[in-house]
Amino acid sequence: MNFELTKQQLELQEMVKDFVAKEVAPGVAARDEAESYEETYKIMKKMGKLGLWGLPYPKEYGGAGGNQVDYCLAGIEINKVDASLGCSYSVHISLAGWPIFHYGNEEQRQKYAVPMFKGELLGSFALTEPNAGSDSGASECTAVLKGDEYILNGPKIFNTNGGYSDVNVVFAMTDPSKGVKGISAFIVEKDAPGYNIIKTERKMGIRSTQQAAVQMEDVRVPKANLLGKEGEGFKIAMTTLDGGRIGIAAQGAGIAEGAYEYALQYAKQRVQFGKPISTQQWVAFTLAEMATKVEVAKAMTMRAACIKDAGQSYSVAAAMAKMVATDIAMENTTDAVQILGGHGFLRDHPVERMMRDAKITQIYEGTNQIQKLVISGAILR
Ligand code: CAA
Repeated sequence: MNFELTKQQLELQEMVKDFVAKEVAPGVAARDEAESYEETYKIMKKMGKLGLWGLPYPKEYGGAGGNQVDYCLAGIEINKVDASLGCSYSVHISLAGWPIFHYGNEEQRQKYAVPMFKGELLGSFALTEPNAGSDSGASECTAVLKGDEYILNGPKIFNTNGGYSDVNVVFAMTDPSKGVKGISAFIVEKDAPGYNIIKTERKMGIRSTQQAAVQMEDVRVPKANLLGKEGEGFKIAMTTLDGGRIGIAAQGAGIAEGAYEYALQYAKQRVQFGKPISTQQWVAFTLAEMATKVEVAKAMTMRAACIKDAGQSYSVAAAMAKMVATDIAMENTTDAVQILGGHGFLRDHPVERMMRDAKITQIYEGTNQIQKLVISGAILR
C-alpha cells in the first residue's frame, strides 16, 4: 500500500490548482449569482484545451493517458472552488465519455469519444425521467426501430450540460415487455430534430451549471448509434453510474476541503472575546473534525479510484466513497457556516454557496440511500 502521489500526479495537481486559481476562482460567486452555465461553459472549453476532458483516457483516443486517481485529483481541486464546474466536468468524463469509450464500437469511439476527449465535443447523460428517478429502470421513453433508424419519444429531466452538449447518451425502452432488460442506450447528437430542450431548472445549488428537461418527439437516431446491444441499456447505465459515483466522491471531498480551508483561515483571523475564535475549544475541535473528515473523504475516494484502475469490481467501493464523501461535504460546509456565524449566512463568503452546492451531491448519481441499497445488496448477497 502506498499513499504517495507520483511526480506526474503532483505536477498534474499543481497544474490544476494553478488553473483553478487563475481561471476558476475569479468570478465564481458572480457565476453562481447569474444562475447561468454560459461562463462556466467557457471555462470548461479552456479545460478541454488543457487536455482535461480526456484525462483518464488513452492517448491514442485523444485522451491524456491518465487514470481514475488523476481524474479524482483534478476533480478535488476543481470542486474545492467551484462545484458547478465540477459537476459539468464529471458528467462529461464519467457519464458521457465513459459509456461511449467502454461500450462503443471503434466507429463510435472515433466519431464521438475522440473529439470528446480532445475537448471538442461536450457530453451529457439522459437517464432520469419524471417517473424514473431512483427507480431508473422505470423508463417511459421509447425507441422503435424503423428501417435503419430508431425513433425516440418521451421526456428526460435533470440532464446536466443539456442544451450545450454535443453528444448525449440517451436511454429508452426498445422492448417494454422485458422491463429493465428492454432498455437500450443511444448516442444522440445535439441537433437531432425533435430532441427539444423545454426547460432549464432553477436550483438551490450548483447554479452555474445547467440541468435541462428534454422532450423527445420522433427523434430519428441512426441504427449505427445504438450503444452496445439492444437491451443492454440498464447495464450500461448502472456500470456508468458506478464510475460516475467515484467522480462525485471526489466532488464531495473537494467541497469538504474547500469549506474546511476557508473556515480555518477565518477562525484564525476572527477575533471575539479578545482572541481569535480558533482558540475557542468548540471551534478548534470542530476544525479538527473537519480536517479529519477531509482525509476520510479523500481516502475513500482514492480507494475506489485505485480499485477501478486495478480493473477490479468497483461498484461497492464507489457507492461507499460517494456516500461517505458527500455526507462529509454536507457536514463540513454546515460546520463552516456555523464557524463563520452570521457572516457564514451571508453571500459575502463562499461557504454559503458551498453548503447549497453540497446538498445535491447527497442526491444525484444515486441518492445516498440508493448507495446503501447497493452496498447492502452486495454484503447481504
Ligand atoms: N452493474 C452491472 N449490472 C447491474 C448493476 C451494476 N452496478 N446494478 C444492477 N445491475 C443489473 C442486475 O444484476 C440485474 O441484472 P440480472 O437480473 O441479470 O441479475 C439488473 O441490472 C437489474 O438490477 P436490480 O434488480 O438491482 O435493479 P433495480 O431496478 O432494483 O435498480 C438501483 C437498482 C440500484 C436502485 C438502480 O435503479 C439505481 O442505481 N438507481 C439510482 C439511479 C441513479 O443513480 N440516477 C442518477 C441519475 S444521473 C445523474 O444524477 C446525472 C447528473 O446530472 C449528475
